[in-house]
Amino acid sequence: MTTIALIVAAGKGLRTGMSFPKQYIEIAGKTILRRSIDAFLEHPAIDNICVVISDADLALYDEATKDLNVLPAVMGGATRQESVRNGLESLTDLSPDFVLIHDAARPFVSTALISRCLEMLETGQAVLPTLPLTDSLKTFSDGQITGSVNRDEIVAAQTPQGFAFAAILAAHRAFDGENLTDDTALAARAGLGVSIVEGEALNFKITTAADMAAAERHILKSLGDIRTGYGFDVHAFEAGESVWLGGVEIPYRKKLKGHSDADVALHALTDALLGAVAAGDIGVHFPPSDPVWKGAASERFISHAARLVAEKGGVISHVDLTIICEEPKIGPHRAAMTEKIADILKIQSDRVSVKGTTTEKLGFTGRGEGIAAQAVATVRLPE
Ligand code: CTP
Ligand code: MG
Repeated sequence: MTTIALIVAAGKGLRTGMSFPKQYIEIAGKTILRRSIDAFLEHPAIDNICVVISDADLALYDEATKDLNVLPAVMGGATRQESVRNGLESLTDLSPDFVLIHDAARPFVSTALISRCLEMLETGQAVLPTLPLTDSLKTFSDGQITGSVNRDEIVAAQTPQGFAFAAILAAHRAFDGENLTDDTALAARAGLGVSIVEGEALNFKITTAADMAAAERHILKSLGDIRTGYGFDVHAFEAGESVWLGGVEIPYRKKLKGHSDADVALHALTDALLGAVAAGDIGVHFPPSDPVWKGAASERFISHAARLVAEKGGVISHVDLTIICEEPKIGPHRAAMTEKIADILKIQSDRVSVKGTTTEKLGFTGRGEGIAAQAVATVRLPE
């Protein structure tokens, strides 16, 4: 018995109000589409995955699915029904026994729900996950309530919806162009019996901006192992014309001495991130003795540390940087550094803090011999 998951991702996501199709938006370091695909990749009974996309999104799709073992993407249509049809037609050669059709916009589908659908398919031709509704339901027209609906006769339909492949393909061919918003509607039209399994509240379809925020809250909450990393670095001045600090070049009558661009602030931040995931220090990853790092932009080092966090399934919750020097003054460059660091780490700028301080002319920083930087990073990892 073979089963293919068909994930439809060719919509425009207009109801989020964002300028970007919702399935390609990253929440906590991973796109919604990638989360949906991973849910099926991780299920042992799914043999293959086919994703239906819009041809306008090809570059986004390639980026979101790099290194993933899925079938070549199929181009969708103007309606969800058309997109599913195109996906099903692309599978005729593989001709699986079963297909699970899923909205890319439901990234939190669980292994247990996928299993429930598959079990039900052993004895039926179509399966639908449903949830009961709790609010009272009304009909209305022109802004006026026109009646009440008996809640006991209504359920909300979710995906994945499961089908015998040949039967749902035949239904799609028979009812082409009807623009039905789910596939069990087509199955019922074709006379197939539709069995019901229990859906899940968490398997909600991300539709509005509020859903997007709820999705982010859910993911952050699930990363309960909260780590703090600390970093410290010093570089001495030498004759020059500018210093690199926090990824920003600041004109100055000296430069910082070092093997790379000597961005002391990014080095402290890199060590803080490495510390949070207990991954050694910057020298372990980028030995100063290695000539490839000569003159290197420190953006490379901190990006690498951020990647190590992401590889552990973690997210960077916050970073706090203190740059210690008499000169150059940090204040005028604080906003630029904040934006640059947020950009490199792919986090919101309100999660990046950049501060400057002097040592009241005391010590090596006070004498203007060099710059020191301290950083603290808060990282959330899966438990
Ligand atoms: N979908 C599709 N092809 C379409 C329309 C929708 O593949 N022509 C997919 C969407 O990408 C989504 C799923 O069907 O994963 C459910 O659709 P919906 O939530 O309505 O998504 P969008 O159509 O993208 O959003 P909106 O209706 O707000 O524009
Ligand atoms: Mg839609």
